Amino acid sequence: MSPFVLTRALPLDATAAALRADVSAGLTRTPKELPPKWFYDARGSELFDEITLLPEYYPTRAEREILVDRSGDIARATGARTLVELGSGSSEKTRHLIRALPALDTYVPVDVSESALRGAAQTLLAEHPDLSVHALVADFQYGLALPETPGPRLLAFLGGTIGNLLPDERAVFFRALRAALAPGDALLLGTDLVKDERTLVAAYDDAQGVTAAFNKNVLTVINRELEADFDPDDFGHVALWDARHEWIEMRLRARRDVVVKIPSLDLAVSFSAGEDLRTEVSAKFRREGVRAELASAGLDLTHWWTDEQGRFALSLSVPASLPL
Ligand code: AVJ
Repeated sequence: MSPFVLTRALPLDATAAALRADVSAGLTRTPKELPPKWFYDARGSELFDEITLLPEYYPTRAEREILVDRSGDIARATGARTLVELGSGSSEKTRHLIRALPALDTYVPVDVSESALRGAAQTLLAEHPDLSVHALVADFQYGLALPETPGPRLLAFLGGTIGNLLPDERAVFFRALRAALAPGDALLLGTDLVKDERTLVAAYDDAQGVTAAFNKNVLTVINRELEADFDPDDFGHVALWDARHEWIEMRLRARRDVVVKIPSLDLAVSFSAGEDLRTEVSAKFRREGVRAELASAGLDLTHWWTDEQGRFALSLSVPASLPL
């Protein structure tokens, strides 16, 4: 009996097709934009891991502090026998949670990267030989077909990645999460919080230029996957705070007039000097906003924990007893 099962809910060629569609739509519209998920090839994931260690990038440390301090509270509040983690990556932070959940029987990491899932499962199984791991290769933005596992289930979406979705996309996504929850289940959500502009901008424009390299890596991904001829030196890294929407935007700004050829899409894309390509939105939240968004999806906020400095929040919510 193997404690490790992997299910693929994402066709092998789906990723390539989605990249082509996103690049051709995003680079032909005005203003130009690309979804942030294309940062994360092997190099991009490595650069993101470096970002999490930067002095300016506080969210990872703040969230880990909450997980370490509150995992006992989370365990008592949920009694979870299954932990489902969306966008699990290396499952590094989850280990605190797994260690603290006494009734835990099954861990279901969900990620688009099969190699990340296999690596994380190996590490976890070495530490917890009695744990069943059912890894799911899936893009959680497109439906959640979870395996049958014992309840209560705790669905975790950590890191503040929810902030990469626009408000409309979040509404759809929260409803899908709600639909995946049965009575007794719960959602554990990580959200970065609104704070002073200097701290926020510094977190996305670090002194060492790691975030700039991470941002430009998306051009390298497109060059390799779609045979484009972006020169990353033609673009500058921009991080700005949009106070009206309360989100950070990362952009790549053309340093001169640039024409990029993407022969595999039969496309030539022109940038005027100073023109921006938006590569990421990273929304920041307030307690009342999170509560309201969850409520609109039929989820009741029951717990709100922040780090000592109030920079980041983990919230717990449960299916509302009255259906929408
Ligand atoms: C992984 C989406 C939470 O928005 O802070 C880090 C990605 N972008 N630095 C974030 C990111 C630039 C990160 N998330």
